[in-house]
Amino acid sequence: MLPLNLRDRPAVFAAPLAGVSDIAYRSIVKRMGADYCFPEMIASEGLIRDNGRTMDMMRLYEGETNVGCQLFGTRPGAVAHAAQVVEQQGFNSADLNCGCPVHKVVDKNGGAALLKTPLLLGQIIEESVKRISIPFSIKIRSGWDKKSINYVEIGKVAEQSGAAYITLHARTQSEMFLPEAHWDHIAELKQSVKIPVIGNGNIWTAEDAIRMIKETGCDGVMIASGSLGNPFIFREIRSLLESGTPAAPATNQERVLVCLEHVKKMVELFGEGPGIRRARKLIGWYYQYISGRKRIDQKLFQVDTYAEVERYLTEALTKLQEKAA
Ligand SMILES: Cc1cc2nc3c(=O)[nH]c(=O)nc-3n(C[C@H](O)[C@H](O)[C@H](O)COP(=O)(O)O)c2cc1C
Repeated sequence: MLPLNLRDRPAVFAAPLAGVSDIAYRSIVKRMGADYCFPEMIASEGLIRDNGRTMDMMRLYEGETNVGCQLFGTRPGAVAHAAQVVEQQGFNSADLNCGCPVHKVVDKNGGAALLKTPLLLGQIIEESVKRISIPFSIKIRSGWDKKSINYVEIGKVAEQSGAAYITLHARTQSEMFLPEAHWDHIAELKQSVKIPVIGNGNIWTAEDAIRMIKETGCDGVMIASGSLGNPFIFREIRSLLESGTPAAPATNQERVLVCLEHVKKMVELFGEGPGIRRARKLIGWYYQYISGRKRIDQKLFQVDTYAEVERYLTEALTKLQEKAA
């Protein structure tokens, strides 16, 4: 069962995104139409030691609902304990990361390395499901590398151990984020298990999302890179899913306004210095979607204050509008 009530249409998930899916991002993509969101992945061990920084990453905004919390970890007792904290903090579900490819995580047998130890993975799921009353899910990759593709085996382990649903990022650990995701893996997983399957990988447009649903039969889609600087993708997907008609495309003015709103929320969240440093890459992502823009000015990556960001983007927008007039 998915942790949200949807009638008659597939779910649209916003992915957990390290360094990105904070309160600012989640409140914007939710307004744009994402059904379900996650903060970035949280270390189970840090959480049960009640590490202040970890708890900060788990803060919800007022009234936030339809939100899960993704954990990483390898000790069944520790993950289960952390899942209890997730439930106490008011999240609607807990998820286990079995897809992170970075050394820091896989060297400790976590993230995608869990695909190599299905027995342990089953124990983690069973122990967690026993201890919480909210749904527990897993997010996996297709396998460790092309010689050990095992998403069907892992899907069955998850189902038998009590996982509520499974998200498949259809690439192996060794493929990292390239090449194109193997959507046929999503279709095969969907045929192999009864629990819902969320498909993930390579959705850049609303049309891609609809195509993934049609080609794989998945119960929902999860968007990561395609939402960076383009939260409007959620409203475009929802519009195609709900009425079959494309949403009005975001104008340059709307893109600039939403980017400024996003940056302002980050400043409120982290303070001006740290907020702006964290927002620099985000501004670049938004800027890439501005039509008719000039090449990105490197000055944009050196801004220190909200006022500078506002001035830069407003001037760029005015010049574009003058050119178009
Ligand atoms: C900046 C960034 C941060 C990510 N952080 C996480 C994370 O915390 N947990 C996770 O399961 N996946 C994480 N991912 C992977 C995405 O959730 C997703 O599985 C992957 O990018 C494939 O989807 P896409 O093709 O839509 O980008 C991250 C990806 C990016 C680009």
